[in-house]
Amino acid sequence: MIKISPSLLAADFSRLESEIKRVEDGGADWLHLDVMDGAFVPNISFGPCVISSLRKHSGMFFDVHLMINEPIRYIEDYKKAGADAITVHIEACSDVAETLKKIRALGLKSGLSIKPATPVSAITPYLELCDIVLVMTVEPGFGGQKLIPETVDKVRQVSELCRAKGLDVEIEADGGITPENVSSLIANGLNVAVAGSAVFKAEEPSKAIELLKGE
Ligand code: DX5
Ligand code: ZN
Repeated sequence: MIKISPSLLAADFSRLESEIKRVEDGGADWLHLDVMDGAFVPNISFGPCVISSLRKHSGMFFDVHLMINEPIRYIEDYKKAGADAITVHIEACSDVAETLKKIRALGLKSGLSIKPATPVSAITPYLELCDIVLVMTVEPGFGGQKLIPETVDKVRQVSELCRAKGLDVEIEADGGITPENVSSLIANGLNVAVAGSAVFKAEEPSKAIELLKGE
């Protein structure tokens, strides 16, 4: 069964502690934390201070998605803040391998993400350094967008590549995922579905999570 990683970006920021509890009680597997710098993406969200405050109130697996330029500069800060996994963008790193190695050296799961226009071939040389590959199914920067259908095939390509190389990698997709379109992603090899609006805007997150898992 796939894991669900609700994106906190869609939560009510005035009461984050209870929002996290709502999805944790609802059966969420991970918590997806979207960090944006206003440079790599045209939006700003939150940083390590917020994450370390949340860490004190939750034992969930913190799946940190860094949408920032040259993330290598901040890996230690996010480790200290309580990240369990750190995913960086291939488009944002001048040294992709060093960045992924640094994440692993700190004992965290390493993730590499690609924007919709970046081909899967770009990440092939780095797959051995990845615990997670995150396929963006929308342009990064904002929650609540529609999934771009052409990105679904990239999930299949990543999953086939990992299988061919015998690598045990979590294949995650992010953006516009709903109970209606998740089955096509699962059929193409998805292991982890990020869902912001579909979970946090639901009246009953547990129902939404169940539907997303295809239960
Ligand atoms: C977009 C973020 C996503 C987004 C997902 O840049 O990386 O995690 O918040 O939200 P929904 O599920 O609402 O598209
Ligand atoms: Zn994200």
